[in-house]
Amino acid sequence: MRTYDIILKKRGGQPLSDEEIGWFVEGYTNGSIPDYQASALLMAIWFRGMDEHETALLTDRMAHSGDMVDLSAIPGVKVDKHSTGGVGDKTTLIVGPIVAACGVPVAKMSGRGLGHTGGTIDKLESIPGLCTSVSRERFFEIVRETGLAVIGQTGNIAPADKKLYALRDVTATVDNLSLIASSIMSKKLAAGSDAILLDVKTGSGAFMKTLDDSIALAKAMVSIGERNGRRTAALITDMDIPLGHAIGNSLEVIEAVETLRGRGPADLTEVCLQLASNMLFLAGKGEIAACRAAAEAALAGGEAFQKLCAMAAAQGGDISVLESTEKFAKSPAVHAVQAPRGGRITRMQTEQIGEVSVVLGAGRENKDDLIDPRAGLILYKKTGDAVAPGETLAVLHTARPEALPRAERLLLGAVEIADAPPAPHRLIYARVTRDGVELL
Ligand code: URA
Repeated sequence: MRTYDIILKKRGGQPLSDEEIGWFVEGYTNGSIPDYQASALLMAIWFRGMDEHETALLTDRMAHSGDMVDLSAIPGVKVDKHSTGGVGDKTTLIVGPIVAACGVPVAKMSGRGLGHTGGTIDKLESIPGLCTSVSRERFFEIVRETGLAVIGQTGNIAPADKKLYALRDVTATVDNLSLIASSIMSKKLAAGSDAILLDVKTGSGAFMKTLDDSIALAKAMVSIGERNGRRTAALITDMDIPLGHAIGNSLEVIEAVETLRGRGPADLTEVCLQLASNMLFLAGKGEIAACRAAAEAALAGGEAFQKLCAMAAAQGGDISVLESTEKFAKSPAVHAVQAPRGGRITRMQTEQIGEVSVVLGAGRENKDDLIDPRAGLILYKKTGDAVAPGETLAVLHTARPEALPRAERLLLGAVEIADAPPAPHRLIYARVTRDGVELL
C-alpha cells in the first residue's frame, strides 16, 4: 500500500477502504507516514468528505491507537460529557458535581484550552495545588471515594488523534464534520464511560457556526457512540453569546462556585441543569423530568458544591479558595471597557471575545505558552442588554498592561450596539438521540 495512492483516491472523491484507513492511522501514529503526506490526505478529506462508514472506521482506528481505559472497577453506570468547545464554558465544573451528587459516578478526562476556547484542565489548575495528572489507580480510587474525578488526558489516550489534531490545527483542516466527529469520539470511546452526553455548541463562538452543521455533527457523533455500544445523546446549545459572564480560568472557577451555590447567571445555570438532567437520564436514573428534579435538588441542597470540594481536595487542591473565593489570586491590572454609545447589544462576535481572553493571558497563542490563571474578563453586558453611553461593558483582568489597548480594541470590535432590539436567542436548540432530532 502507498500513501500516495490513498491521497489520490480521496482527492478523486472515492471512499477509502477499511484497510487503507487503518494503514494510514497506524503509519501516521508510528511516524512512518510523514506530516506532508498526512496533511495532503487531511486536505483531500476536507474537500471530499468521508461517508458514515469511513468516519466510524477512522474513529475506531484512532481510539485503538492507544489505551482503551476499562472503568469496570468503578461500580455503577459511568457517564461522560464532552463540549465541542466554547467561550466561558465552565459547565463541567458544575455538571460533574451535580451528577455525582445524584449518585452517578463521573470519571472524566478533559482537555486544555485550544485557540479561542477554554479548557477544563486549565480552569481546574487555577485552584492552588490541584493536580490533574494522577495515576490510573489513583483516578479510580478518587472516583470510588468521591464519585467524581476530572484529570487530563494521559499520553496514551488516542495518540493518533493527538498527532492528527496538532497537524489539523496548522493546516486549516479542523472544521470538517468527519474529522471533528472522529477526533472527539475516538477520545470518548477510549476513555471508557458507558454513556456519553455531547454538548454541541452552535454560533459565532463555536467550531460549527450554523444550526444545520451542528445538528449534522451531533448526529454523526451519536451514531458513532451507539454503534460502539455506548448510550449517547447530544444537546445543541448556544455559543453565539458567551456562557455566563466570566471568561478566564480562576474567574470561571469563581463563577462555577457561585452557580453551585445557587447564585450563578441564569443562562449558565439553565444549560448546566439541562446537561445534568440528560446525563442522569443516560445513566438510567429515570425520565428527564425526574432527572431534572434530582439535579435541581442537588444544586439547591448544596450537595453538588460539596462534591466539587471533595473532588478538589482528593486531587490535592486548596479548597479554602472554593469556600471563600476572594482568596483567589488577583490580576495586578484591571481595566473597565466602556460603551462608546447607547442602545441595545444586538450581536457579539463570541470567537473574538475568546481571543480577548487569550490576549490578556488566559489562553495560549502557541501550544507551549504558559497561561496566567488570574487573567480574563468579566462581561457586564451581553446580547439583548440595554447600555447607556459610557456604561461598563466589561472589566479586563491581566498581568500584561501593555496588552490592554489591543484587548480593548478587540472587545469593542466584537460587540455591536444598535437601536433595534436583537433577534431572540435560544439557549438550547435541539436534542439528538438514536431516535432522531427533537427541536426544543
Ligand atoms: N475538539 C476535539 O477534540 N477535536 C476536534 O476536532 C474539535 C474539537
